[in-house]
Amino acid sequence: MHVLITGAAGFLGRALAQRLVPGSLLGDRAVTRLTLLDLALEGQAPDGVRHCVGDMGHADWLRDALNEGPPIDVLFHLASIPGGTAEQNYPLSRRVNLEATQTLLEHGQQQVARGQPAPVFVFASSIAVFGHMPAVVDDDTPTRPQMTYGTQKRIGEMWVEDFSRRGWVDGRAVRIPGVLARPPARTGQLSAFLSDLIRELAAGRAFTCPTSPEATTWASSLPCVVGQLLHAATFDVAATDGHRVLTLPTLRFAMAELVQAVGGVHGTPAADLVHWAPDERIETLFGRFPTLLTPRAEAAGFRADADLDALVRQALAPG
Ligand SMILES: NC(=O)c1ccc[n+]([C@@H]2O[C@H](COP(=O)([O-])OP(=O)(O)OC[C@H]3O[C@@H](n4cnc5c(N)ncnc54)[C@H](O)[C@@H]3O)[C@@H](O)[C@H]2O)c1
Repeated sequence: MHVLITGAAGFLGRALAQRLVPGSLLGDRAVTRLTLLDLALEGQAPDGVRHCVGDMGHADWLRDALNEGPPIDVLFHLASIPGGTAEQNYPLSRRVNLEATQTLLEHGQQQVARGQPAPVFVFASSIAVFGHMPAVVDDDTPTRPQMTYGTQKRIGEMWVEDFSRRGWVDGRAVRIPGVLARPPARTGQLSAFLSDLIRELAAGRAFTCPTSPEATTWASSLPCVVGQLLHAATFDVAATDGHRVLTLPTLRFAMAELVQAVGGVHGTPAADLVHWAPDERIETLFGRFPTLLTPRAEAAGFRADADLDALVRQALAPG
């Protein structure tokens, strides 16, 4: 089976690529070839792995890169321009988040036209599609994205559904919550403070939190989300009554609870080390998450981290 990952050098992409090395199983099929695509990739590609280095915002380059390899069985589309950067640079977000997504989906159409199977297409969507949220969010909550990033993710979800209806891909779009803990590099994610909070307090260092202690958010650990992405490629769409856009199960917690969990798991005086300095924009974007119900994804076998302690333990686990 030939698997391709876009955004393979990113936070989720690196971890996913480690799980899909040639010889590993995805569902009950063996991965025989892995193509990693990103703007830059470190090191030499090992046997069975192809490095595809370039800017997927250039449609001609992307089409050629896709056609160079054998037919794609499973494509994980993770590359994107994150929320903060997308607000600042609309043309870039349009090229990568919209145009490149469409070019990838159209590759499925071309594969089918050549008599090859439609690729499974896993699209990394985001809870940013919701925007303003009612008191309870469930599988039927309407989306009202409030930023360009969320709008572009919603458009991608609709394309995944439409291309699947046409039989050009076997698409699955999963709405990912905050993923913890991201390495400290600044890459434009406005939610980075959550990862910084865990890392700093776990190391026994002081941390200024840009929310109130009562601010409530949704988040999952990196290993949990990687497992959910792998499951997204293999779950039976009949289990979701044909729904291909799923909100992933995750944990909902207040910042004060997170601080307490970090202190408990890492044995540091986390509650004394944190200084609360709410920033209205951050509080609005990441601190008012309501109750979340995800029965559709749960029926298809998707699972959140077991509890907040498990999330904190997994968030800083090596690899
Ligand atoms: N990490 C989270 O908390 C989170 C939450 C919700 C959704 N998501 C989604 O999951 C996916 C992966 O997230 P992540 O945290 O790994 O993101 P990331 O920013 O760490 O990685 C994205 C990768 O895409 C690559 N990329 C960007 N533009 C490109 C281009 N023009 N050509 C080729 N590659 C390009 C980047 O170089 C980067 O390596 C993204 O689509 C993101 O929107 C992530």
